[in-house]
Amino acid sequence: MNSRLPPGPSNYLGFLQLTFRHYFRLRFDPIGFSKKLTKTFGDVVFFRIFHHRVILVSHPKYIHQILVSDSANFPKMSRIRNHLRQATGDGLLVTEGKRWHQQRTSTQKIFRSKRMSFFASIADQHISEMLERWQSHPTVEIETEMTLLTQRIMGDGFFGLQLESEPEVAEAVRILSDSFYDESRSILNLPDWLPTPKKQKKRRATTLLKDKLKNIIDHRIASKNRRDDYLDMLLYPATDPSSNCPHHVHASPDEIMSQLLTMYIAGFHTTSVAMAWLLSLVAQSPEIQNKILKQCKAELAGTSSLDAHNQENYAEMVVKESLRLYPAAWELFAREASQETKLGPYHIPRGSLLLILPIVIHHDERFYSNPEEFDPSRFCTKMESARPPHSWIPFGLGPHQCIGQSLALQQMTQILKSVVLQFQLKLPPDSIQKTKVVPKVSLRPAMDFKIAIVERNLATDEHQNAEVCANY
Ligand code: HEM
Repeated sequence: MNSRLPPGPSNYLGFLQLTFRHYFRLRFDPIGFSKKLTKTFGDVVFFRIFHHRVILVSHPKYIHQILVSDSANFPKMSRIRNHLRQATGDGLLVTEGKRWHQQRTSTQKIFRSKRMSFFASIADQHISEMLERWQSHPTVEIETEMTLLTQRIMGDGFFGLQLESEPEVAEAVRILSDSFYDESRSILNLPDWLPTPKKQKKRRATTLLKDKLKNIIDHRIASKNRRDDYLDMLLYPATDPSSNCPHHVHASPDEIMSQLLTMYIAGFHTTSVAMAWLLSLVAQSPEIQNKILKQCKAELAGTSSLDAHNQENYAEMVVKESLRLYPAAWELFAREASQETKLGPYHIPRGSLLLILPIVIHHDERFYSNPEEFDPSRFCTKMESARPPHSWIPFGLGPHQCIGQSLALQQMTQILKSVVLQFQLKLPPDSIQKTKVVPKVSLRPAMDFKIAIVERNLATDEHQNAEVCANY
C-alpha cells in the first residue's frame, strides 16, 4: 500500500521516547487529550503508546467505515474483551462471530414492541413509587435516586425479582466496571488471586452478583412459575411465543448467567448515569421544564402527543441533547485492525488500535455550534437532517450498536415526563459546568447533584415556580 500514515504528535524527541507521555495523557485526561489531538491534527490521528500503534478517529464518515461498512475487519480489541469476560463471562459484550450472532438474534426478541410495553408498565410502577417517596423530601441526590430506580426497573423487567440489598448490588456493579476500566488500560496487570485490597474487592463483588443471580435462576426453575421476561426466554427458548426463528439454542447455565450479567451491567449503569445528567440539566432550566410540562398536559388531555407548534416530540429532543452533551458511553470499546487496510487516504497497519470517542464528535463545532451549551432545539427534525449522518452516536453504530437503545430512550423519556409532570426541579446555574466529569466506563459527575424539588399543583404552577427558586 503506498498511502501514508495519518498525521499525529511526535513519538520521539531525540533519544527521548515520548510514547509514555501519550500513555499518561490518555490515561488521566482521555477526553481533553483526544479533543486536543483532533483539533490539532484532524479527523484521523496517529500516535504510539509503547509498542501499540493507536489511531484516533473523529469523523462520522470514517467511523461509519470502521463500525459499519468494514466492521468485520475491526473487531473489538482482544485485550478489552478478555478483561470484560472477567466481569460478565461470555455475554454479548464479549463474544464475536457466530456465537455473538446467535446471542444477538435471540436477545433482540426482548426488545419487540409487546415486551417494550411490558417494560413501560413495570417502569411506570417503579417511577410512581419513587415519586411518592419524593413527596416528603425538599431535595434529592439525583444519581443515587436514578441508580435505585433503573436498578429496580431492570431487575423487575429482566428477571421479575427485586435484588435484595440493592445498594450493595449497585456498589458491586460499580466496582466491577471500575476495575474493568482501570485494568484494561493499566501497563501492568496483577493476577486476580493476589490478596491486594483492590483484588479482594473485585472478587467479593463478582461473587455477590453471581450468587444473587444464581438464587434468582434457581428460584425460577424450582417454582415452575412462568413470566414473559428475559430469564424465561433464556431458560425456555423453544417455548418462547416469539421463537419462530432457527436461533433458539438452549444456553448452558454459565451462558444464562453471562447473558443476565451482561444485560444487567450494560443496561442499568449507563441508563442511571444518563438519567442523572438529564434531570440535572433540566433542573437548571425552568423554561425547558415548562415546555415538557406543556407536552405532558397536551398528551393527558388527548389533544396531541407532540409539541403544539412544530409537531416535535420535545421531551425526546431534550433526552437526545443530554446524551449529546454528556454521552454516558463517552468512548466506544477500542477496535483492532485485523488486517492492513485504508481509512480515507491513510494507511492503517495491521494490529493498530482504533479509538472512537462519541464525546469528541458530539462537541465538535463543525457539527454543533456552541457545543458546550444545552440546547434541545438542535434535535428538531430540520436541524437533525441538516447535520452529517452519524454525528450523534451515544449508542454506537453498526452490528454492535447498543441493543438496548430503544429501551433506554423509552425509559429516559418516560422518567423525564413523569418527574416533570409532578415536580418542579431546581439546581443553581453553573452547578453542572463547575463539576468535574469522571470518565470511567460511564461518564459520571464527580459528585452527586442535590436537586431541590417542589410538588406541582398544576393549577398554581406559576406561583410554585417562584417558590422553588426562593427555597434553594
Ligand atoms: C443511556 C443508556 C445506554 C447507553 C448510552 C448505551 C451505550 C452503548 C454503546 C455506545 C454501545 C456500543 C459499544 C461499542 O460498540 O463499542 C452499547 C452496546 C451494548 N449495550 Fe448499551 N447503552 C445504554 C443502555 C443499554 C441498555 C438499557 C441495555 C440492555 C438492556 C444495553 C445493553 C447493551 C449491550 C448488550 C451492548 C453490546 C451489543 C453488542 O455488542 O452486540 N445498553 N451500549
